[in-house]
Amino acid sequence: MKIELNENKIFFNNGQSVQEIHPFWLRERVDGDQYLDKGTQQRLFDPSTMNGEIDIKKAEIKNGFLEVNFNDGVNSKIDIGKLETEFSNKDTVIKLIPKKKWDSALQNVKNFEFKEGFNESKEMYDLLVSFYEYGFVIIKNVPTENNYIVKFANSIGSVRRTNFGEHFNVKSKTNPNDLAYTTLNLSPHTDNPYRNPVPCIQLLHCIENEVSGGYSTLVDGYTVTENLKKEDPEAYKILTEIKVRFKFIDKSVVLEDWSELIRLDNEKNFKQVRFSPRLDYVPMLEKNKLDRYYKARKKLSDLYNSEKNIIEFKLAPKDLIMMDNYRILHGRTKYDPKEGNRFLQGCYIDFDSTEGKLRHLKRKFKI
Ligand SMILES: [Fe+2]
Repeated sequence: MKIELNENKIFFNNGQSVQEIHPFWLRERVDGDQYLDKGTQQRLFDPSTMNGEIDIKKAEIKNGFLEVNFNDGVNSKIDIGKLETEFSNKDTVIKLIPKKKWDSALQNVKNFEFKEGFNESKEMYDLLVSFYEYGFVIIKNVPTENNYIVKFANSIGSVRRTNFGEHFNVKSKTNPNDLAYTTLNLSPHTDNPYRNPVPCIQLLHCIENEVSGGYSTLVDGYTVTENLKKEDPEAYKILTEIKVRFKFIDKSVVLEDWSELIRLDNEKNFKQVRFSPRLDYVPMLEKNKLDRYYKARKKLSDLYNSEKNIIEFKLAPKDLIMMDNYRILHGRTKYDPKEGNRFLQGCYIDFDSTEGKLRHLKRKFKI
């Protein structure tokens, strides 16, 4: 990438094409104490109120800076390196971390060890990169006293409070309002598909686990749906098109949201899976279409529940697992409460927490 001048016009050359930079685009980026707050990098002027007829009277390139005199009397030195980072139009931090597909053969994923000052450490940066690669990460030795999970979540970003509270306790109870609070096997699912927006990341912290069952299970929804796309494009297509209703009811709230089981972004790439087959209701559609939908959902369910795709492991006290609720399905094998206690605490955070922390640590450690 190169900035070039030709008379009072400024161009950028990416090696393949040359494009003129709009003078107003540069005017919005003027630097200097009068125009930009150094700490926040927020403008001290409002370009949306300005007349768009901005021209460049004079431009020069000197020592990595573009020196521009605009026709409204403003002169500025703009860092060319900084300008060039804006030409890609893409998120250059999070989206550039490649997702690693995994199935039951997954091995050697690094666990992290909690210690004092962990949230500001280079280890935390590595942890977040690993989280974006695999969709989950396990942290050992996280203190368990006084609902420490909330403190841990808030050290990355901010807890996403829901009607279950700031955090929730996963223990078997009498009269549960969710199957999570029983001792039954829980097949792979994503959490809270009925919320708008769905909580992005779930944290689960093991406080006690004295039973012989109660294994945690995980499935990579990204791997499964990408494989389905190749193996059965028709099934994949219908699951990316039909929106179904997810609903949660208890005595104080009625939550409802609609979504495809496989949600794609504007470029038709993976964005989110929701799967919670005790809560999903497909609308009344043409019989043929529903035939295809039910077959496709059965296929997806078989894949999510296949031994080929599930990893199973036992959480020990002080282990904390953080998982991407838009990508990873989680579950649990059944257990016998007569054998002892099994007690987990959970809470949610959203992607702004992990993204904000990751960008901050990247800046801090100049990575
Ligand atoms: Fe769950």
